[in-house]
Amino acid sequence: HHIIYFDSIKSTNTYAKEIAHETPHGVVIIGNEQTEGRGRMGRGWTSPKGKGIFMSIILKPQIPPTEGAKMTQIAAAATCLGIRSITSLDVLIKWPNDVIINGKKVCGILTEMSGELNQVAYIIVGIGINVNTEEFPEDLREKGTSLLIEGKKHYSRKEMIVAILNEFEKLYQDYIKSGSLQSTIEICKKYSAMLGKEIRIIQGNKETIAKAVDITEEGLLKIAQEGGKEDLVFSGEVSV
Ligand code: BTN
Repeated sequence: HHIIYFDSIKSTNTYAKEIAHETPHGVVIIGNEQTEGRGRMGRGWTSPKGKGIFMSIILKPQIPPTEGAKMTQIAAAATCLGIRSITSLDVLIKWPNDVIINGKKVCGILTEMSGELNQVAYIIVGIGINVNTEEFPEDLREKGTSLLIEGKKHYSRKEMIVAILNEFEKLYQDYIKSGSLQSTIEICKKYSAMLGKEIRIIQGNKETIAKAVDITEEGLLKIAQEGGKEDLVFSGEVSV
């Protein structure tokens, strides 16, 4: 893998976007800390030095922007498998963006892209993992956790990065070659934190309570509302 490493950087996603046009497909940006780490919905991402994995993968697939969300699914599956291969923790995927342990978030994914109507120029897949973080600020303690807190030991970030990138590569190639997300979806279903459960979906100011029944071949969440009416969810905030 071609990796660009920074001891300190504002945000690996922001940097990746700045260089994406002149950078070949597959380059990975890694920061030992981020001073302005970004999360979804305009939120921040706490990125203390030496504690976590903060990385962004620059991808240049020949796909329309509508397929971009699939990269998030690939990243979630790869991260889940990668962490599982190194820890013995029960790591699950909270569709569409989060990887969780014991109901608490341990990893977030921020996918950003740029391109024309029918062709993506680049996709940046940003992965943030709380690895050796000892504790969280009060406001995050209830919802966030780290591998150290859950596993009660320190883990090698290097080993974990290698494991995750290898899984990502396999699933990505599989998708590009077959045009199908099947191998990724199998993993997302196997390790899903929500299938079979009542969930709350928040989209804008609309809230829906429904049962998560499936993840489709396209990577969408299928829900069943009261009375059995089925719907597909494209994105949004989902809680179990
Ligand atoms: C979220 O759950 O809100 C997404 C968090 C994504 C954090 C990662 S850390 C590496 C990359 N660079 C950023 O600034 N954000 C992503």
